[in-house]
Amino acid sequence: MLSNLKRRGMRSLLLFPSSLLLRPSTFSSAADSAVSIPPPNILRRPLPLLPAPPFSGLKRGPASPIAASSPSSSFRRLSSSASSMADQDVSYLSQSEAAEVDEILMGPLGFSVDQLMELAGLSVATAIGEVYKSSEYSRILAICGPGNNGGDGLVAARHLHHFGYQPFICYPKRTPKTLYNGLVTQLESLSIPFLSINDLPQHLAENFDLIVDAMFGFSFNGQPRPPFDDLIQRLVSLRHDNYVSKRSPPIVSIDIPSGWHVEEGDITGEGLKPDMLVSLTAPKLCAKKFVGPYHFLGGRFVPPSISSKYKLCLPKYPGTSMCVRIGKPPSVDIASLRENYISPELLEDQVAPDPVDQFFKWFDEAVAAGLREPNAMTLSTSDREGKPSSRVVLLKGADKHGFVWYTNYESRKAHELSENPHASLLFYWNQLNRQVRVEGTVEKVSREESEQYFHSRPRGSQIGAIVSKQSTVVIGRHVLHDAYKELEERYADGTAIPLPEFWGGYRLKPTRFEFWQGQPSRLHDRLQYSLRIVDGNELWHIERLSP
Ligand SMILES: Cc1cc2nc3c(=O)[nH]c(=O)nc-3n(C[C@H](O)[C@H](O)[C@H](O)COP(=O)(O)O)c2cc1C
Repeated sequence: MLSNLKRRGMRSLLLFPSSLLLRPSTFSSAADSAVSIPPPNILRRPLPLLPAPPFSGLKRGPASPIAASSPSSSFRRLSSSASSMADQDVSYLSQSEAAEVDEILMGPLGFSVDQLMELAGLSVATAIGEVYKSSEYSRILAICGPGNNGGDGLVAARHLHHFGYQPFICYPKRTPKTLYNGLVTQLESLSIPFLSINDLPQHLAENFDLIVDAMFGFSFNGQPRPPFDDLIQRLVSLRHDNYVSKRSPPIVSIDIPSGWHVEEGDITGEGLKPDMLVSLTAPKLCAKKFVGPYHFLGGRFVPPSISSKYKLCLPKYPGTSMCVRIGKPPSVDIASLRENYISPELLEDQVAPDPVDQFFKWFDEAVAAGLREPNAMTLSTSDREGKPSSRVVLLKGADKHGFVWYTNYESRKAHELSENPHASLLFYWNQLNRQVRVEGTVEKVSREESEQYFHSRPRGSQIGAIVSKQSTVVIGRHVLHDAYKELEERYADGTAIPLPEFWGGYRLKPTRFEFWQGQPSRLHDRLQYSLRIVDGNELWHIERLSP
């Protein structure tokens, strides 16, 4: 059956399965898209050089040093992970208590050192996986010391390999014990490279995306000896050397940042400043001095007898997770967040004469770059008094006639559109440093078109659309769930669910487009297309706008 859309030559949107498949959504789903008409050559066309994803100051660097002194820092700060446990709520162990806990675990409580090491290494690997995605932080160097902390690092590296990372090991002082030999064999069998001190590349920052510091744990006392003193120094200077350019790979310390005093922390103030600390069993006293953005607790095995003996207050681990975030959530001075965009140039003679063609060129590139929901767009409307409002909706099709989305015809946006049909759409493709603005007038799509789209949606989404009196006040979630259940039962026999009168599509017919490509030093490219009537014909006129 030829769809109406297809007859009109309209391009509906088929996205990467990964961008939609895994996430339940009220508005869209894989099935939503799966029935759409595949766009031609969405992935087959050769792509122009796509820029590397820009560094995120939030992810890569430590909290901005200007945060504390900036005049705006008290004005408004961004922080995340509000659910993490605050520092003051968590118990800390002294060095001797930590040693006692280990003795109890491995004595009366029947744990073996291998087991604890496995659990520790797995916790570290999962904490890394929570924050540093393998797509961005693939190459991991684990620097392992001769003791248990080094063993934790070896185990973590093995798990990281299975999580899709590419670990490298620097293990200069091997411990000739069965446990450690076994770990080395396991890692070698996975072809994980072992690098000697001499093999270590001079520029660690260029060769590794993340460094695991597994040199010394809580039983260490005194001054680190060669070669570890030097290795620690390399990690310290790595941060200094690369701080300005923000290219320093994050450092993840296991339980104790190497070189720190187990209770006093970084006594000289010139030691390691890890970005992530994964405390094991319970944080040690030095962890109070940790100021990096990510403090996690791992070692989900502490039995109640130990918790009560040491009056431990430890956070609950979520679900089946092997790690839990504790400590202060990172805070960042909003004003200090900035990117220097590096992108291909956007030149007048390279863009398509028709803005819809140009839109699809960029849209295809956004899809090919693996962006999540590249069809999400901000729709801005305004009421009859000109008061604006914006929200995100999903583009469900586009062609020369316009850009289509679906919604509730009694929602706020619908009311505003009935009062004022002028609206704008905004696509922001962050990782590509691109923004597209589309302005025009909006009208409803035909009932036939809405019917067709409605029935292409999963039945759950169809029922959800009926249940939601969008933008009206509901007294509780249960109202929606009860109504949903009732309809689900009513249509359990598989009969077609009728399209409600109050639901359907809108089409924005564009009169202006702007394509924005971020460039260094804020000299961004902006090309505007405006619709002009020349000799009775509609023509798109392209102009460059000042950034
Ligand atoms: C990623 C994303 C996609 C959305 N897609 C739609 C959509 O396609 N249609 C829709 O009606 N609402 C969608 N929403 C919800 C809207 O943003 C908004 O909450 C809702 O439409 C009510 O808006 P209104 O009160 O201004 O009418 C989406 C929200 C998000 C975050």
